[in-house]
Amino acid sequence: PPMKMLKPLAAALAVCAAVAVQARPLEDIQKSGTIILASEGPYAPFNFFKGKQLTGYEIEVGEAVAKKIGLKFEWKTVGFDALLTGLAQDRWDLVIASHAITEERAKAVTFTAPHYCSGGQIVSMTPAIAKAADLAGKTVAVQTGTTYLDAVKKVPGVKEVKNFPTDDAARNALGSKRVDAWVTDRFVAKEMISKLPKAGFKIGDMLFIEQVASAVTKGNQGLADAWNKALKELIADGTIGKISQKYFQEDVTCK
Ligand code: ARG
Repeated sequence: PPMKMLKPLAAALAVCAAVAVQARPLEDIQKSGTIILASEGPYAPFNFFKGKQLTGYEIEVGEAVAKKIGLKFEWKTVGFDALLTGLAQDRWDLVIASHAITEERAKAVTFTAPHYCSGGQIVSMTPAIAKAADLAGKTVAVQTGTTYLDAVKKVPGVKEVKNFPTDDAARNALGSKRVDAWVTDRFVAKEMISKLPKAGFKIGDMLFIEQVASAVTKGNQGLADAWNKALKELIADGTIGKISQKYFQEDVTCK
């Protein structure tokens, strides 16, 4: 009978609702004293390991903001794909891993103010592949789940888009000429060229621009507000600019 069926359904819905509101509000994080931050790890110079030490622009920005709010921090690192889903499961309070603000992602998470402005850039091994139109008939490597994947899919005539679990793996595919081009962040490309000047990588055009921000659980506005206020102050007093100079020799914050 339908009434009997409704009970388990109601129970299941209640569990879903409970899971959805589990995110720790700012007050709870403050009570515990420690914010749980999550990032990826193989995405230099934004988030990467120097030996066992997690570091990079976003790691230092995240730590500076946490301190400014008056919190200690603890890092978790997981694959790029698992970062936003882990937020929804309340496995960490905030993700800072170069996620651009997109409409699609904003359906699932709440974005903070951006900590850098950048864009997707074409990288190849030949000056003949530099513009979007040059990608026609070509194989292009991108990291799974990124805005680069979405952008390359929209370029007319691309022969194949190859997905890789990390951006590093996508770059290696280009380096070993298994693909014709790689689309990545412009600052990742810049850093790579300066680290490996003889590897033969050629920087092409930017395909699009984007604003990159942290993400908190959908609707965790109190945490987002505190983060935004602290970030704004750290941009104004030059702290973020200094971190940016250290990793990029330029200011990557949004103008
Ligand atoms: N900015 C791009 C995006 O929003 C790429 C992010 C890649 N992040 C990373 N940690 N590998 O999708």
